[in-house]
Amino acid sequence: MDFDKVVEKRRSVRKYKNTDVPKEIIEKIINQTVTYSPSANNLQPWKFLVISDEKIKQKIVAMCKRNSYMMNAPYIVIALSNQVECYEIIGNYMRSDVIDVSIAITHLILAATNEGLGSCWVGAFEADKIEHFLEIAYPWRILALIPIGYPDETGTYVSRKPSGEVVEWVG
Ligand SMILES: Cc1cc2nc3c(=O)[nH]c(=O)nc-3n(C[C@H](O)[C@H](O)[C@H](O)COP(=O)(O)O)c2cc1C
Repeated sequence: MDFDKVVEKRRSVRKYKNTDVPKEIIEKIINQTVTYSPSANNLQPWKFLVISDEKIKQKIVAMCKRNSYMMNAPYIVIALSNQVECYEIIGNYMRSDVIDVSIAITHLILAATNEGLGSCWVGAFEADKIEHFLEIAYPWRILALIPIGYPDETGTYVSRKPSGEVVEWVG
């Protein structure tokens, strides 16, 4: 798909068709993500857990507030960030892991759109509970959950602030 189309077409999708997604497509988009996403000092402080087992999904979704629609997605990808093996001093004041993994998630979501898949960035989850359940330990943390499946809705355009409000051309 043309890049402009991918960017325009991406929407948060919260309804998924009851259709299987071939595992190869999920592998492809994750490979594109981990192969091409940039990260500070190229430290790549990410890991992606792919969940498709219904029982595991059920337990995880129960630990996410107001996001039960995720059960309809055949896959839930859990993005982890490594709080230690990342660049320490972005802008002289913060670690890079959240930035790096957020960029990778954006790649993942756009790569999914390019394959005709729908997805949503989910931030409303109980990290401690899911980390305990999946035995995720320090220095790893969950940054986001991303349900992925064939969309059963186009998603609605949610308006944005006008560019005049958020862009400043500083001479
Ligand atoms: C950090 C982050 C957390 C989000 N958390 C949730 C969430 O928990 N549940 C949900 O349904 N959507 C969630 N969203 C999706 C946003 O609501 C959505 O991106 C926004 O309303 C713009 O709509 P659009 O993605 O369709 O353009 C999240 C998005 C981001 C970037």
